[in-house]
Amino acid sequence: MENIEYHRLAASEDDGSVPKETKISPWIGRKSKWKKCFRKISYYRRSKLNSFMTLLCVVTFCCCCLVALVLAIVFSGKSKSATYDETPWFRPQYHYTPKKNWMNDPNGLIYHNGEYELYFQYNPYGSHWGHMSWGHAKSKDMVHWEQQPVALMEADGVMIFSGSAVVDTNNTSGFGNKTHPPLVALYTGFVESDKIQDQRVAYSNDNGMSWINYENNPVLDRHSENFRDPKVFWHPPTKSWCMLAVLAQKHTILFYTSVNLIDWTLASEFIPSPSTGVSIEGNWECPDLFPLKVIGAANQIKWILKVDTSGNRTEMSRTGAQYFIGEFNGTHFVAGGKSQWLDSGMDFYASNTWNNRYSHDGRMIIIGWACNWYYSENIPTSPFRGMMSIPRVLSLLPYGDGLRLAQQPIQELQSLRGDPITFAPNPVVTAEGYAVQFNTNHVRSLEIFLNVTVLSRDELKEFGLKLMKGPSQELVIGWRSDDQSFFINRTASGIVDMAPHFPVVNCTQVPLNQDGRMWAQIFLDWCSVEVFVNGGVVTFTDLFFPDTNQDIMEFYWTGAKDAITYDLGGYEMTSIWKKAKN
Ligand code: FRU
Repeated sequence: MENIEYHRLAASEDDGSVPKETKISPWIGRKSKWKKCFRKISYYRRSKLNSFMTLLCVVTFCCCCLVALVLAIVFSGKSKSATYDETPWFRPQYHYTPKKNWMNDPNGLIYHNGEYELYFQYNPYGSHWGHMSWGHAKSKDMVHWEQQPVALMEADGVMIFSGSAVVDTNNTSGFGNKTHPPLVALYTGFVESDKIQDQRVAYSNDNGMSWINYENNPVLDRHSENFRDPKVFWHPPTKSWCMLAVLAQKHTILFYTSVNLIDWTLASEFIPSPSTGVSIEGNWECPDLFPLKVIGAANQIKWILKVDTSGNRTEMSRTGAQYFIGEFNGTHFVAGGKSQWLDSGMDFYASNTWNNRYSHDGRMIIIGWACNWYYSENIPTSPFRGMMSIPRVLSLLPYGDGLRLAQQPIQELQSLRGDPITFAPNPVVTAEGYAVQFNTNHVRSLEIFLNVTVLSRDELKEFGLKLMKGPSQELVIGWRSDDQSFFINRTASGIVDMAPHFPVVNCTQVPLNQDGRMWAQIFLDWCSVEVFVNGGVVTFTDLFFPDTNQDIMEFYWTGAKDAITYDLGGYEMTSIWKKAKN
């Protein structure tokens, strides 16, 4: 009997995952301190032993809990996000995706108490658009995200459409106090019964975790459809809050001002002249307005007004963000030239900037929904549908005859750089030119550098990078010499039948610099590619859905061997998600 008690006690030290007798045997016959200790215990009367064992179990359990708690506190914030291995194939490894369900626009982007808040258009009930609510994720570095409970839930027949949030530092709204300033969100309420879109307020006094709807909502109601997507920010010179919202089908941006985020006064309307070249196809959505210093011009500040155009969803027309560079005085925006496109790919939409422009590190950071309304409902991912782009730092610089926005990936992404990648040293001769290859060996999250100097344009037809190349598929990113255009060709990139216009070639003019040099930083992440050309003065964001056996990455050029010199490199990118245990 004593021996039995001894065995049980020993077994309780283990995890109980194998039969107790098997686990115990190594202890028998060993003259360890433990054994002596257990022998002593065996002299106890049975009842005493039972209570001792109970006590020991309780103490052991408490110690384990304490250790687990301490480890959780120590590693919180450093640890990777939740395990996201349920859809091993198309799940991006370093772009934000919700664990499951539908996601579109980024909303309510604020930096507060050392954390970046990312709210987003979210369907808590499924992987198609509907029941729109604000999902929520938090991050300390905009790279590792932790999904949070839904922040603002559709209720009483009102969906929560896109909008923005601010830290009301001086408590102008009265929803908090100056020691604990409230976070205030302005969003569009979509009233399902009559399709009215109005602007509503919600506030949070617990760091954006829970939100309370203002009791007298809506705060702005034109009794109109298609009035949406309020962007709010503080304008120090006029000491007031500014809001811009779109009349989506009138291609008009309305400017409002307020002193308390509740009472809003219409200040002006912006309707650009057709001579700006602006696109008025489809809806205008998700406006944004922010100041930037002009690089190289001492103290010159310009304001950028950005608005997305959804294009005509039944035919092929351009979608994405277009922007104006101009002046803003707190009430009126005046455009200073032609409109320009922010991204030249198919999948950068509803982008918005973090509202920490005067408080944090001075960077203007933008993030977009990496998708396109043409085919967003048919994207072959599961159980999630929708991903964010890489967060990008914006700058404004002289370009050609005017100014141009440049976008660069946030430097925090460098923390994910893993093993370097090395292409074969010598090119092989192909049917039309030359190529060097790299076998990605199933690694589909890469950062790639491409640095090319064109020595003879006349002797060069094209150069480029083929990604996820296999027997019959490839995505081609390249530059053509004859019309000096940079392009992405996803016509044969894998699953392309989501919509008639998914298999396309996008291109835009990128003239050679005087020194003939052209460079690109390329981010591949399972089902997306983001390309930053010549320091980000041109970017492409495109989704693609290749088969599993596409492991070749190839740099190629057609024309004379000596038409170019090149330098290739990059890194494998480590995943931001924890690996699931097998
Ligand atoms: C842009 C958009 C917004 C709207 C939201 C609805 O993608 O259409 O205009 O507020 O999505 O989900």
